[in-house]
Amino acid sequence: MDLTHFTFDIDSDGIAIVMMDRAGEAMNTLSPETGEDLALIIDRIEQDDSIRAVVIGSAKQDNWLAGADIRWFASLTDPAEGEAAMRAGQEGFSRLEALHRERGKPVVAAIHGACLGGGLEFALACGSRVCSDDEKRTQLGQPEVKLGLLPGAGGTQRLPRLIGIAPALDLILTGRTIRPRKARKLGLVDEVVPKAGLMEAARARALALIDPPPVEPPSLADRIKAHLNPAAMQRLALETNPVGRRVLFAQAEKAMLKETKGNYPAPVAALECVRIGYEQGVAAGLAAEQTAFGRLVVSPESMALRSIFFATQELKRDPGTTGDAEPRQIETVGVLGGGLMGGGIAAVNTTRAKVRSVIKEVDEAGVARGLDYVQKVLDGQVKRRRMQKADAWLAMKRQVAGTTSYDDLADVELVIEAVFEDLDLKRSVLADTEKATGSDTIFASNTSSIPIAEIANGAARPANVVGMHYFSPVEKMPLLEIIVTPETADWVTATVVAFGKRQGKTVIVVNDGTGFYTTRIIGPYSSEVLYLLEDGATIEEIDKAMVTWGFPVGPVTLSDEVGIDVGAKIGKILEKAFGDRMAAPPAFEALTADDRRGRKNGRGFYTYEDGKKGDVDETVYNVLGVTPRPGTVSRHDIQQRLSLQMVNEAVRCLEEGILRSPRDGDIGAVMGLGFPPFRGGPFRWVDQVGVDTVVEQLRDLTGTHGDRFSPSQMLVEMAEKGDSFF
Ligand code: NAI
Repeated sequence: MDLTHFTFDIDSDGIAIVMMDRAGEAMNTLSPETGEDLALIIDRIEQDDSIRAVVIGSAKQDNWLAGADIRWFASLTDPAEGEAAMRAGQEGFSRLEALHRERGKPVVAAIHGACLGGGLEFALACGSRVCSDDEKRTQLGQPEVKLGLLPGAGGTQRLPRLIGIAPALDLILTGRTIRPRKARKLGLVDEVVPKAGLMEAARARALALIDPPPVEPPSLADRIKAHLNPAAMQRLALETNPVGRRVLFAQAEKAMLKETKGNYPAPVAALECVRIGYEQGVAAGLAAEQTAFGRLVVSPESMALRSIFFATQELKRDPGTTGDAEPRQIETVGVLGGGLMGGGIAAVNTTRAKVRSVIKEVDEAGVARGLDYVQKVLDGQVKRRRMQKADAWLAMKRQVAGTTSYDDLADVELVIEAVFEDLDLKRSVLADTEKATGSDTIFASNTSSIPIAEIANGAARPANVVGMHYFSPVEKMPLLEIIVTPETADWVTATVVAFGKRQGKTVIVVNDGTGFYTTRIIGPYSSEVLYLLEDGATIEEIDKAMVTWGFPVGPVTLSDEVGIDVGAKIGKILEKAFGDRMAAPPAFEALTADDRRGRKNGRGFYTYEDGKKGDVDETVYNVLGVTPRPGTVSRHDIQQRLSLQMVNEAVRCLEEGILRSPRDGDIGAVMGLGFPPFRGGPFRWVDQVGVDTVVEQLRDLTGTHGDRFSPSQMLVEMAEKGDSFF
């Protein structure tokens, strides 16, 4: 056989050992070429009577089969092509399944590393699955919905039949992945073994399946026990009859729509395929998969989600600077301030970057706060089994220290400050740091709005100063915005970019300016909320409109979460830099004067009881001096005004060179601010709507509401030339 992406051997027991090894790639993926190889292999196994069983493993380091080659999807330009591709994939997997179902040749998947998407569908077509016990590297799942697609090669049919409808819907509709222990519990794999013994265990299993020992009927005690398990009873009751299944599907649909607000067509289609499979049979289910995949692969939602995926991949390889400076080694990081952000930064230093942190605070109480934060994050890791208890204990003991003296920062390579948002304070901690540390120590500020050049003004070593803007909560939010000034040295940029990646972050590098990118585009968006309130829109209407548009939380809720005082302070800084466009409406003053700081003091736009958010605090309208008139401003107008404010400002950031590329702008907005991923980010979304349409809408709004909506120069010029961002 002339194979490019697989190796094929037959051992002395007549077991074909098939190893996936995609040529020229670090990972195994499925594409038409791998499909051709697979067809040859199946031909051979079908025809060769000396082959009694099959084991399918991977020659790659920590990867079994990561799924379909996503780059190749871009070549599918109309639904019929997508349908045909899935038909071919389904036929290949059906032939694989027939080897054990019809020809009596057991097929065992020996899985270590990623087994995702088309990879899991491949494994499902095998007769049995053994996986390594590596809870970190081995993961299984159907993450297609995250790319706006569905498992189109039999996943919506085989998975529910193997593990049950409810658990399968959970995996297919959320796209979440699971680890070996959980996979065994669900019955997705039959055996979990140490990696070193994986191939041998799979071989032994294949041999045993050739001549299976007679099955002992379960004892009466076992049968009773099985039925006493409440989960099993519920499953049996619901899944084995059509009425019960209808209930199950309805429940899943409700939960999904609550999550997606109807903005994501992929999970809807996936659910439909599972349902059709049960109501009309597997063949109909498979046909539905083909049609749905063809439609989804060319949908704007899938293209947007895939563009985010590619941008994230590209950023992993992006050194963040065009110079050839090499990143320097970081072993110990000084963290100034052990508050919400400092604590979070020290936590990811420990859990992800695996470097030592020294938290410097003003007093012992501050130190304790910082250390507690790290401890809490480590406890969470242990609870979720991401870390052994002993390792967490050692990490806390050896990798995290607290101090009230700069003397303990003498040897650190990097200092990240997260003290209060105050220019004078930031300058003074920078001066103290410079005195205490060596000439190669980097000073990074986590300011959320102050230009880095202003902090660096007067510094002894301005080339060592950079911004590292994290998002709260640091251990959960994926973005890191790095801000460079004209004076920041290339090696400094390269070093902090590389370090941010070690912390597990997706890193964008932006040029310095007030609010950089992410804080700046929030500015006009937040101000517009107050204009909407003045126009009679209610708080519920505003939040609901934007959540429906696809943001995870509405802007009013966000304001309470961030802190109304913080927002007011940043609003003033932005107004000073950008003038009327960002003018914080006077109402902000009234809110802070009324001691409304949001969730943190339980007084905001909403009521709070024991930290739990309640209804809108109706008295807030009085404080603002506005009268709510429900229905006065339509949902469409709310969505348009708010989204266009953010988008127009994003384009200005590109125009002024704050952003290096539209790609970075999209990633920053989606990962830092929750801009709806299915819209791809502000730039991708403008392309989708059409630059000329966006300009027209902005001009209309300028006519009605004034100059704060006037379209940015770049948009106007692009509209004239008929350009797009991508
Ligand atoms: P925080 O109030 O929770 O923590 C600040 C900590 O700094 C306090 O524990 C305080 O004791 C300590 N501190 C004050 N002066 C100090 C000094 N001279 N040396 C050492 N420690 C000192 O504030 P938070 O929320 O952590 O914010 C810190 C910085 O991060 C601010 O610049 C803020 O703008 C920025 N930021 C905040 C975000 C958020 O969501 N809270 C998001 C992104 C940035």
